[in-house]
Amino acid sequence: MVGGGPGSFIGGIHRLGAQIAGIDLVAGVFSGNRDKSLEAARGYGIAPDRCYPTAEALFAAESARADGIDMVAIATPNHLHLPVALQAIAAGVDIISDKPATATLAEVLLLRDALAKGDSRYALTFTYSAYPMVREARARIAAGEIGAVRKTIVTYAQGTLAGPARPDAVRSWRTDPAQAGVGGCVSDIGTHAFNLAEYVTGTPVTAICADLGSQGDERLLDDDCTVLLRFGGGGRGALIASQIAFGERNALSFQVYGDRGALHWHFDQADMLRLVRGGDTSLLTPASAGLLAPTPVPRGIGNGLIAPFAILYRDFAEACAGKPELIDNMLPGIEAGVRSMRFVERAVASSADGAGWVTLDG
Ligand SMILES: NC(=O)c1ccc[n+]([C@@H]2O[C@H](COP(=O)([O-])OP(=O)(O)OC[C@H]3O[C@@H](n4cnc5c(N)ncnc54)[C@H](O)[C@@H]3O)[C@@H](O)[C@H]2O)c1
Repeated sequence: MVGGGPGSFIGGIHRLGAQIAGIDLVAGVFSGNRDKSLEAARGYGIAPDRCYPTAEALFAAESARADGIDMVAIATPNHLHLPVALQAIAAGVDIISDKPATATLAEVLLLRDALAKGDSRYALTFTYSAYPMVREARARIAAGEIGAVRKTIVTYAQGTLAGPARPDAVRSWRTDPAQAGVGGCVSDIGTHAFNLAEYVTGTPVTAICADLGSQGDERLLDDDCTVLLRFGGGGRGALIASQIAFGERNALSFQVYGDRGALHWHFDQADMLRLVRGGDTSLLTPASAGLLAPTPVPRGIGNGLIAPFAILYRDFAEACAGKPELIDNMLPGIEAGVRSMRFVERAVASSADGAGWVTLDG
């Protein structure tokens, strides 16, 4: 793992998800600070000689070992995703990267080119795509259960930046363009919402009209976004992502309305899916839906982020072991990364231009 040092948000979740999927964390660079990196290595139970000072040193030393690493998890602030991924590709190591893929659209296009020339497999931990009931919704929409999708609404509200703007609010790299990239909230959680909208409907968003805002002059990146969506095939939708939603923790939800029914999902009840068909409404759970796909944790247990991370790691390991078709299909890969970074850059451009419509074409 690169990133994921002491006190980090996502490092421990990567580690646990991987472990449940049968993948051992054996080496890493967990912080830019050597002492903190060694402290993390101790916590993760990693031998000090496999805790490296830099990512370059990690790939060089691990490539020379008979039992060297097979894959790397990237869990650093966004601006380091590209350089670490490029080093992994040069070393022929598979990559499971946290989102957003990179800090900018130009960077993700570079990454896509490098992946095309190299041998590394690549997946993105768009966490919410891996909840069993989200995948159930996707399968039911693909099977035509709610008919043609007319309207998709996805909302992601957090209160992490609510209150007076402070440079140190939450984790400061998230509000620093040099580390977060071109988008603030639109990149941090808007990309989750965007990916979810396309993943569940199975339909690309073709155009957006965005209104991004930030509190006061001190905050350099957006902390609030409202985006209208047009989907290929004629559906319309809306995406709200906000980090100034006072009191909200992780209020992610979607509603998808077809011409014969609807599906509703909410993170707080991630093991439930509300299906409306004709005059009937039913609550589906993993048991009632008769999910065929096995999950690496007992059904109904572990709705926090660990269960979907375990599923993402399990699927990525399968993809690397001979099922590459899982990537960019069931598992978000570089194409989802390019699309989400295009969403970020075009949303910023649309908003700067007075919230005009922009396409998401290449
Ligand atoms: N998939 C999800 O649901 C989800 C949730 C949270 C964060 N994330 C993503 O994960 C990434 C990390 O976010 P976070 O919230 O854990 O951030 P964080 O600030 O909590 O942790 C970042 C870690 O990276 C380490 N780091 C910084 N520079 C480094 C370097 N040069 N080499 C090695 N390590 C270095 C820091 O020491 C720290 O331990 C971000 O890209 C974020 O968008 C994803």
